[in-house]
Amino acid sequence: MGRYDTSIAIQEEARRYLAGGVSSNFRYHPIPVPLCFERGDGPYLWDADGNRYIDYVLGNGPAILGHSPAGVIDAVRRSLDIGQAFTAIHRGELELARRLTEIIPCAELVRFDISGTQADQIALRLARAHTKRTKVIKFEGQYHGWADNIFASVGPALNEAGPSDHPATVLQSRGQLENVAETLIVQPFNNLEHVDATMKEHAGEIAAIVLEPIACNSGVIEPEPGYLEGLRALCDREGTVLVFDEVITGFRAGLGGAQERYGVTPDLAVFAKAAAAGFAISIIAGRRDIMEGVTDGVVHGGTYNGLTSSIAACSAAIDELERDERAAYRRMDHAGGRLVDGLNELGREHGLPLHAQGIGAIFTTVFTENGPLKNYRDYKSSDEAMRLRFVEEMQNRGVRITARGTWFMSAVHGDVEVDATLEAADGALAAMT
Ligand SMILES: Cc1ncc(COP(=O)(O)O)c(C=O)c1O
Repeated sequence: MGRYDTSIAIQEEARRYLAGGVSSNFRYHPIPVPLCFERGDGPYLWDADGNRYIDYVLGNGPAILGHSPAGVIDAVRRSLDIGQAFTAIHRGELELARRLTEIIPCAELVRFDISGTQADQIALRLARAHTKRTKVIKFEGQYHGWADNIFASVGPALNEAGPSDHPATVLQSRGQLENVAETLIVQPFNNLEHVDATMKEHAGEIAAIVLEPIACNSGVIEPEPGYLEGLRALCDREGTVLVFDEVITGFRAGLGGAQERYGVTPDLAVFAKAAAAGFAISIIAGRRDIMEGVTDGVVHGGTYNGLTSSIAACSAAIDELERDERAAYRRMDHAGGRLVDGLNELGREHGLPLHAQGIGAIFTTVFTENGPLKNYRDYKSSDEAMRLRFVEEMQNRGVRITARGTWFMSAVHGDVEVDATLEAADGALAAMT
């Protein structure tokens, strides 16, 4: 019997009832076959064939406390007894909103939603309403959800992407409205001069600059020193709303997100994924005068916004992440730092161009001679076939990482998991030489 036979059989049957066999296009991951998972516990996952994995995918980021963290599960369990959806304010929601205004630097007011895609949409709508402008600057390789008006140039092929200093606006889905390029201007990440020139060229037209402050969807690329400060200054100069999409970095780059880590405060921010440690919540946070648009004609709705379970999960996640003076972040820095150093060392030992970079809580592995990555083009020029082979070899050795090479850490990945992971990487790289 093969290692993945049960997963393969379940996938085949799923395709008869579930379109494409999965519930999100980003789950196809046929490396070497799409897996079916049965359960998770802490840093581990078990697939339908009984194989155990050290999990660095963590649901694509949410499980920052590992799978089924006791404190969060208990809080959610208690919430189930008081009812789920009130379509009205409840005390837990008020208390969480108050707490978030203390935790997130830009948060004078917050709103809750359930997904990053939707929260990004209301952030853009608020910015447009506030500035009475329509155009938005986004960065190549960055993802802000799959809605028509922003789903462009997330992963364009290099032969379609246009010149590196003037990237084309490349649509990412069939069926998407085609006029996106009229409102969206795509820029290379980590190049302030280009944004400066673009803002001068479109003076008085740019409603918002939206960015992942750490580019996590195209390698894990930190902003260069002064870059976020520079964007802040340009937005101040032009009256443009600076939006940090912290769907990944929120609660991960630090409890207060990348804005806390780098000391640059945006006008609006979106947190999701790790915010409820595996439950569905997103948070729109920002300046009072912009957020108050919702009382002045800007509509934001959502039946499931503020469910008691989501609120309970987010509050409990904060409790866990704040415990012992935020020890969770020290643990992620330690384990993630050991992995980055260890993987780079193993690459050298095996004579392979394995390059790991990022921060402790999230990092990437790519195969390139041209590290460190500074922008999408650097990431896209790395050797994709080698990266996918590495992902597959790691999976065969019981370590699960994302197909795009991203590793998410949790507060429960410890030295035992790091040692086992480095041993697996040693074997995987040996198999590749
Ligand atoms: C930076 C960023 N923004 C927005 C989204 C969309 O969030 P969701 O999948 O919750 O709609 C994602 C999802 O991966 C993301 O990484």
